[in-house]
Amino acid sequence: MESSIHIEAKVGDIAETILLPGDPLRAKYVAENFLEDAVCYNKVRNMFGYTGTYKGKRVSIQGSGMGMGSTAIYVNELVETYGCKNLIRVGTCGAIQEQLNVGQVILAMSASGDSGANMAYFNGFQYAATADFSLLQKAYQTAQRLDINTIQGSIFSTDTFYDDNPTRWDKWERHGILGVEMETQILFTIAKRLGVKALSVLTVSDNIKTGASASAKDREQSFMDMMRIALDLA
Ligand code: HPA
Repeated sequence: MESSIHIEAKVGDIAETILLPGDPLRAKYVAENFLEDAVCYNKVRNMFGYTGTYKGKRVSIQGSGMGMGSTAIYVNELVETYGCKNLIRVGTCGAIQEQLNVGQVILAMSASGDSGANMAYFNGFQYAATADFSLLQKAYQTAQRLDINTIQGSIFSTDTFYDDNPTRWDKWERHGILGVEMETQILFTIAKRLGVKALSVLTVSDNIKTGASASAKDREQSFMDMMRIALDLA
Protein backbone atom coordinates (compact mmCIF):
# COMPACT_ATOMS: atom_id res chain seq x y z
CA MET A 1 0.00 0.00 0.00
CA GLU A 2 1.37 3.42 -1.01
CA SER A 3 -0.38 5.33 1.74
CA SER A 4 -3.12 4.73 4.32
CA ILE A 5 -6.72 5.95 4.49
CA HIS A 6 -6.14 8.91 6.84
CA ILE A 7 -2.48 9.69 6.11
CA GLU A 8 -1.29 10.76 2.67
CA ALA A 9 2.45 10.15 3.32
CA LYS A 10 4.26 7.62 1.18
CA VAL A 11 5.78 4.56 2.81
CA GLY A 12 9.24 5.64 3.97
CA ASP A 13 8.21 9.26 4.75
CA ILE A 14 7.63 8.60 8.46
CA ALA A 15 10.37 7.85 11.02
CA GLU A 16 10.36 4.75 13.24
CA THR A 17 10.10 6.98 16.32
CA ILE A 18 7.03 9.20 16.33
CA LEU A 19 5.62 11.65 18.85
CA LEU A 20 1.85 11.91 19.10
CA PRO A 21 0.34 15.11 20.50
CA GLY A 22 -3.46 15.29 20.41
CA ASP A 23 -3.37 18.71 18.79
CA PRO A 24 -2.09 18.82 15.19
CA LEU A 25 -1.00 22.46 15.68
CA ARG A 26 1.34 21.24 18.41
CA ALA A 27 2.88 18.88 15.88
CA LYS A 28 3.39 21.87 13.56
CA TYR A 29 4.84 24.01 16.36
CA VAL A 30 7.32 21.34 17.44
CA ALA A 31 8.34 20.61 13.85
CA GLU A 32 8.98 24.31 13.22
CA ASN A 33 10.73 25.06 16.51
CA PHE A 34 12.55 21.87 17.57
CA LEU A 35 13.29 19.88 14.40
CA GLU A 36 15.73 20.45 11.59
CA ASP A 37 14.75 19.97 7.95
CA ALA A 38 11.13 19.21 8.91
CA VAL A 39 8.87 18.19 6.05
CA CYS A 40 5.09 18.02 6.35
CA TYR A 41 3.89 14.60 5.14
CA ASN A 42 0.19 14.85 6.05
CA LYS A 43 -2.54 17.44 5.75
CA VAL A 44 -5.55 15.13 5.48
CA ARG A 45 -8.21 16.45 7.90
CA ASN A 46 -5.61 19.04 9.00
CA MET A 47 -4.10 16.27 11.14
CA PHE A 48 -0.58 17.48 10.44
CA GLY A 49 2.40 15.14 10.46
CA TYR A 50 6.07 16.08 10.01
CA THR A 51 9.38 14.26 9.74
CA GLY A 52 12.69 15.93 10.53
CA THR A 53 15.77 15.40 12.67
CA TYR A 54 16.50 16.11 16.32
CA LYS A 55 20.16 16.07 17.39
CA GLY A 56 20.88 14.28 14.12
CA LYS A 57 18.28 11.53 14.62
CA ARG A 58 15.25 11.08 12.38
CA VAL A 59 11.95 11.62 14.17
CA SER A 60 8.32 12.29 13.23
CA ILE A 61 5.50 14.07 14.99
CA GLN A 62 1.84 13.56 14.17
CA GLY A 63 -1.43 14.86 15.64
CA SER A 64 -3.58 12.01 16.98
CA GLY A 65 -6.77 14.00 17.54
CA MET A 66 -8.68 13.84 20.80
CA GLY A 67 -9.94 10.60 22.24
CA MET A 68 -9.33 6.93 21.78
CA GLY A 69 -11.35 6.55 18.58
CA SER A 70 -9.19 9.04 16.70
CA THR A 71 -5.93 7.90 18.32
CA ALA A 72 -6.61 4.26 17.41
CA ILE A 73 -6.96 5.13 13.72
CA TYR A 74 -3.60 6.92 13.57
CA VAL A 75 -1.77 4.34 15.68
CA ASN A 76 -3.00 1.46 13.51
CA GLU A 77 -2.07 3.19 10.25
CA LEU A 78 1.32 4.45 11.51
CA VAL A 79 2.34 0.96 12.54
CA GLU A 80 0.72 -1.18 9.86
CA THR A 81 1.34 0.99 6.79
CA TYR A 82 4.36 3.10 7.77
CA GLY A 83 6.26 0.72 10.05
CA CYS A 84 6.50 3.01 13.10
CA LYS A 85 8.18 1.21 16.02
CA ASN A 86 8.30 3.68 18.93
CA LEU A 87 5.10 5.66 19.55
CA ILE A 88 5.23 8.33 22.22
CA ARG A 89 2.17 10.29 23.24
CA VAL A 90 2.91 13.83 24.41
CA GLY A 91 -0.14 15.41 25.97
CA THR A 92 -1.92 16.86 28.95
CA CYS A 93 -3.99 15.37 31.74
CA GLY A 94 -6.23 16.54 34.55
CA ALA A 95 -4.72 15.51 37.91
CA ILE A 96 -6.95 13.72 40.43
CA GLN A 97 -4.45 13.70 43.34
CA GLU A 98 -4.59 16.91 45.34
CA GLN A 99 -0.84 17.25 45.77
CA LEU A 100 -0.11 17.23 42.03
CA ASN A 101 0.69 20.71 40.75
CA VAL A 102 -0.08 21.99 37.30
CA GLY A 103 3.02 21.68 35.14
CA GLN A 104 4.05 18.38 36.74
CA VAL A 105 5.41 15.91 34.16
CA ILE A 106 4.09 12.34 34.44
CA LEU A 107 5.61 9.26 32.83
CA ALA A 108 2.65 6.87 32.56
CA MET A 109 3.49 3.31 33.64
CA SER A 110 -0.02 2.05 32.96
CA ALA A 111 -3.39 3.28 31.76
CA SER A 112 -6.67 2.13 33.28
CA GLY A 113 -9.72 3.35 31.44
CA ASP A 114 -13.24 3.05 30.14
CA SER A 115 -12.50 2.62 26.44
CA GLY A 116 -15.46 0.97 24.76
CA ALA A 117 -13.12 -0.22 22.00
CA ASN A 118 -10.94 -2.03 24.51
CA MET A 119 -13.85 -3.68 26.30
CA ALA A 120 -15.42 -4.84 23.04
CA TYR A 121 -12.11 -6.28 21.85
CA PHE A 122 -11.53 -8.21 25.08
CA ASN A 123 -15.17 -9.41 25.35
CA GLY A 124 -15.87 -7.29 28.46
CA PHE A 125 -12.65 -8.21 30.30
CA GLN A 126 -10.13 -5.56 31.31
CA TYR A 127 -6.69 -5.56 29.70
CA ALA A 128 -3.96 -3.96 31.84
CA ALA A 129 -2.39 -1.54 29.35
CA THR A 130 1.22 -0.74 30.20
CA ALA A 131 4.03 1.35 28.76
CA ASP A 132 7.07 -0.25 27.16
CA PHE A 133 9.66 -0.53 29.91
CA SER A 134 12.71 0.27 27.78
CA LEU A 135 11.13 3.55 26.59
CA LEU A 136 9.96 4.35 30.11
CA GLN A 137 13.42 3.74 31.55
CA LYS A 138 15.08 5.83 28.87
CA ALA A 139 12.61 8.69 29.39
CA TYR A 140 13.21 8.57 33.15
CA GLN A 141 16.98 8.61 32.72
CA THR A 142 16.73 11.50 30.25
CA ALA A 143 14.59 13.49 32.69
CA GLN A 144 17.13 12.88 35.47
CA ARG A 145 19.97 13.99 33.22
CA LEU A 146 18.08 17.15 32.17
CA ASP A 147 17.12 17.82 35.81
CA ILE A 148 13.39 17.63 35.03
CA ASN A 149 11.21 16.36 37.87
CA THR A 150 8.88 13.54 36.77
CA ILE A 151 6.39 11.29 38.56
CA GLN A 152 6.00 7.70 37.39
CA GLY A 153 2.62 6.06 37.90
CA SER A 154 -0.79 5.09 36.63
CA ILE A 155 -3.21 7.23 34.71
CA PHE A 156 -6.80 6.81 33.47
CA SER A 157 -7.98 7.22 29.86
CA THR A 158 -11.63 8.10 29.38
CA ASP A 159 -14.03 8.35 26.45
CA THR A 160 -15.97 11.15 28.17
CA PHE A 161 -14.49 14.55 28.99
CA TYR A 162 -17.79 15.90 30.37
CA ASP A 163 -19.56 14.10 33.22
CA ASP A 164 -22.03 15.27 35.86
CA ASN A 165 -20.97 12.94 38.68
CA PRO A 166 -18.88 14.96 41.20
CA THR A 167 -17.52 11.81 42.90
CA ARG A 168 -16.59 10.17 39.63
CA TRP A 169 -12.84 10.03 40.32
CA ASP A 170 -12.83 9.25 44.06
CA LYS A 171 -12.22 5.50 43.74
CA TRP A 172 -9.53 6.04 41.12
CA GLU A 173 -7.82 8.60 43.32
CA ARG A 174 -7.79 6.06 46.19
CA HIS A 175 -6.20 3.53 43.87
CA GLY A 176 -3.33 5.84 43.06
CA ILE A 177 -4.35 7.08 39.63
CA LEU A 178 -2.47 10.33 39.02
CA GLY A 179 -4.49 11.92 36.25
CA VAL A 180 -7.10 11.58 33.55
CA GLU A 181 -6.72 12.00 29.80
CA MET A 182 -8.25 10.47 26.69
CA GLU A 183 -5.71 8.60 24.53
CA THR A 184 -3.10 6.51 26.33
CA GLN A 185 -5.02 3.30 27.09
CA ILE A 186 -5.75 2.53 23.44
CA LEU A 187 -2.20 3.54 22.39
CA PHE A 188 -0.65 1.07 24.85
CA THR A 189 -3.08 -1.71 23.94
CA ILE A 190 -2.72 -1.43 20.16
CA ALA A 191 1.07 -1.04 20.37
CA LYS A 192 1.28 -4.28 22.35
CA ARG A 193 -1.07 -6.03 19.91
CA LEU A 194 1.03 -4.97 16.93
CA GLY A 195 4.39 -5.70 18.56
CA VAL A 196 5.75 -2.15 18.85
CA LYS A 197 6.78 0.09 21.76
CA ALA A 198 4.69 2.85 23.32
CA LEU A 199 5.06 5.46 26.02
CA SER A 200 2.98 8.38 27.25
CA VAL A 201 4.57 11.57 28.60
CA LEU A 202 1.97 13.89 30.10
CA THR A 203 1.91 17.26 31.79
CA VAL A 204 -0.73 18.24 34.30
CA SER A 205 -2.81 21.03 32.68
CA ASP A 206 -5.39 21.23 35.46
CA ASN A 207 -6.22 19.66 38.79
CA ILE A 208 -9.75 18.23 38.89
CA LYS A 209 -9.68 18.01 42.73
CA THR A 210 -8.48 21.54 43.52
CA GLY A 211 -9.72 23.37 40.43
CA ALA A 212 -6.23 24.71 39.70
CA SER A 213 -5.37 25.26 36.06
CA ALA A 214 -2.13 26.09 34.31
CA SER A 215 -1.11 29.64 33.53
CA ALA A 216 0.27 30.33 30.07
CA LYS A 217 3.78 30.36 31.58
CA ASP A 218 3.29 27.00 33.39
CA ARG A 219 1.95 25.49 30.20
CA GLU A 220 4.90 26.66 28.16
CA GLN A 221 7.55 25.48 30.65
CA SER A 222 5.98 22.07 31.21
CA PHE A 223 5.43 21.68 27.46
CA MET A 224 9.14 22.34 26.86
CA ASP A 225 10.13 19.83 29.58
CA MET A 226 7.85 17.16 28.14
CA MET A 227 9.12 17.72 24.59
CA ARG A 228 12.78 17.60 25.61
CA ILE A 229 12.20 14.22 27.28
CA ALA A 230 10.18 12.80 24.38
CA LEU A 231 12.41 14.05 21.54
CA ASP A 232 15.44 12.55 23.22
CA LEU A 233 13.89 9.09 22.70
CA ALA A 234 14.52 9.30 18.93
N1 HPA B 1 -10.32 15.10 31.46
C1 HPA B 1 -9.95 14.41 30.37
N2 HPA B 1 -8.89 14.71 29.66
C2 HPA B 1 -8.16 15.76 30.04
C3 HPA B 1 -8.47 16.52 31.16
C4 HPA B 1 -9.61 16.15 31.91
O1 HPA B 1 -9.95 16.78 32.91
N3 HPA B 1 -7.55 17.50 31.27
C5 HPA B 1 -6.68 17.34 30.24
N4 HPA B 1 -7.04 16.29 29.50
